[in-house]
Amino acid sequence: NKSNVYECWLNYKHLPHNFDDEYKRFCSYIVAKSNPPIINSALEELKFAFTRFMGRMPEVLDSYPDSDCILVGTLDDAADEALRVSRGDLPEDGFMVHKFERNGKNVLAVIGKNEKGALYGVFHLLRSMCCGKPLAQVQGIDGPRNPLRVINHWDNLSGDIERGYAGKSIFFKDNRIVSDLSRVKDYARLLASVGVNGVAINNVNVHQVETRLITDEFLPDVARIADVFRQYGIKLYLSINFAAPVEIGGLPTADPLDESVKKWWRDVADNIYKYIPDFGGFVVKADSEFRPGPFTYGRNHAEGANMLAEALKPHGGVVFWRAFVYNCQVDWRDRSVDRAKAAYENFKPLDGKFLDNVIVQIKNGPMDFQIREPVSPLFGAMEKTNVAVEFQITQEYTGQQKDLCYLVTMWKEVLDFDTYAKGQGSTVSKVVSGSLFRMEYGGVVGVSNIGDSKCWTGHPLAQANLYGFGRLGWNPELSAQEIAEEWVKLTFGHDKQVVDTIVSMLMASRDIYEKYTAPLGIGWMVNPGHHYGPNVDGYEYSHWGTYHYADWKGIGVDRTVATGTGFTAQYREPVASMYENIETCPDELLLFFHHVPYTHKLKSGKTVIQHIYDTHFEGAEEAEGLKEKWLTLKGKVDDEIFDMVLERLEMQIKNAIEWRDVVNTYFYRKTGIDDIHGRKIYK
Ligand code: GCU
Repeated sequence: NKSNVYECWLNYKHLPHNFDDEYKRFCSYIVAKSNPPIINSALEELKFAFTRFMGRMPEVLDSYPDSDCILVGTLDDAADEALRVSRGDLPEDGFMVHKFERNGKNVLAVIGKNEKGALYGVFHLLRSMCCGKPLAQVQGIDGPRNPLRVINHWDNLSGDIERGYAGKSIFFKDNRIVSDLSRVKDYARLLASVGVNGVAINNVNVHQVETRLITDEFLPDVARIADVFRQYGIKLYLSINFAAPVEIGGLPTADPLDESVKKWWRDVADNIYKYIPDFGGFVVKADSEFRPGPFTYGRNHAEGANMLAEALKPHGGVVFWRAFVYNCQVDWRDRSVDRAKAAYENFKPLDGKFLDNVIVQIKNGPMDFQIREPVSPLFGAMEKTNVAVEFQITQEYTGQQKDLCYLVTMWKEVLDFDTYAKGQGSTVSKVVSGSLFRMEYGGVVGVSNIGDSKCWTGHPLAQANLYGFGRLGWNPELSAQEIAEEWVKLTFGHDKQVVDTIVSMLMASRDIYEKYTAPLGIGWMVNPGHHYGPNVDGYEYSHWGTYHYADWKGIGVDRTVATGTGFTAQYREPVASMYENIETCPDELLLFFHHVPYTHKLKSGKTVIQHIYDTHFEGAEEAEGLKEKWLTLKGKVDDEIFDMVLERLEMQIKNAIEWRDVVNTYFYRKTGIDDIHGRKIYK
């Protein structure tokens, strides 16, 4: 009796118009010739879905019935069939969907290269069925473009989630791992359905208790979580504390070059693999925001990462080493430091020094998950290093799951961004998939937005971000619009008004949020600490290195080579010149790269100050428009979801109005320039 809201896009309640003609006949019999755990999960999913579709359980058989059926298995299971596909035709973890005739009956085969491939194939089929895709388009070969598609949880053992806006952890409570893992299983299904193949369950800020997750005290319980994920082809990872040898190992040092430290980590790794034979590896935040790291011992990040990588290597594990390294103790008076430059400065010189099972995990932008940032110049700068892009699915700076903000549009821009690392077409997508520089590992990492909230994500429509993260990681060529449409159809069904309305709300939401918050790429005008709501000078005189330098004449950070911090030089040409030159710098990033007078004319023809006023009035108005749109769906979507979304939209309107007025008043007071349209600005 679970409500739709719990089941998200796996509710199987909405059948499309072509279901009877195209798919119904396959939904009574499932043939599976073997039944190892992951295939079993695929069969469970089919049974669950087909029972919803047909009102009765399908039969699972190990040989063909005298009826149309679905065949599920790996290439090995299908060795007898005349499928005309060989191992080499299928991508790693990929699958083929193919219809053929056998003794006058139709067989719809879902054949994976391996078990995981079969599971992904089943989810692909079910998604396509529910979205109403014609069978002809569903057939063919598919596979993930990125080898690693990993979720990072910032969950603490207390059950609190750092930057979590959807309740408490589904893994941890009161410094223990929870005993009932049924929610974890549902989560594994959701993740596997969009191709996620790894989950780091604990916060990158590894505090005292969490440091012990890698010990016998917690490993039996960690292994229980890994067991659940394994059945869905998902590997478990742990965030570790670089100082663990000192803090829990009784060693006098955590120096990565010290033999006793190396041995300590080898023993830790050996022990973990006794409990979790397919353990994914470690996620490491080191020398970042007061976390310990190799710098303490005069070592660099490669030396730190490699020490851990060596310990994991014999077992096939990897290290995700985060590039979020910067000086967070800046004196705001000191204009020589530019936080945006830090990741590149720290990591570029180490290119080629990391072992081949280290992946450098780079945040999408050079600062920290603002609503608008340029792409980090570190993408494409490391040619001999595995890299992954880190996105923040949880909406820390983008409305905290009170405000609607569909982030897939933004991630898509990042993945499509051309680094020119090997000439035109060297997109971030190709860099992180490993294809550009022929690296073995790489992919996408997303900071989770879920918790134990009834709808998983606090804001029901924020589920689209989790869904979209997975889909885009699987295939970065999908458009943000396509992904939104899929998600809405799977979640809410096919009513055209419902689909069009929610898709349009999602697609507009990032621009709306950007409009009423920080303008033209400047970022950071938030309340310090919790990061919700406006505070234009909130970070202006702090030590975090995030400034806008607004005075009475102008605003923006001069990051040019000619007169500023020189950050633009971290990009390759022609990108570097595009940002360096105020004529070619795109409006939406103008204040990220340039300090300009408020009367500076944008490409849009407006002055900066008028742009600020206009976007803030528009943004708040459009936030109200979201509510108007949603109200038209009353009675057309589940009542409970309707109310939950409405409540959030009302919070968003309040937030948007607060932002509008605070920002407009702030800049009016700075400049004394009136709005040319004479709208209400509090003076
Ligand atoms: C942001 C966030 C922190 C987080 C950090 C990180 O700064 O506010 O809570 O720990 O990113 O990514 O490590």
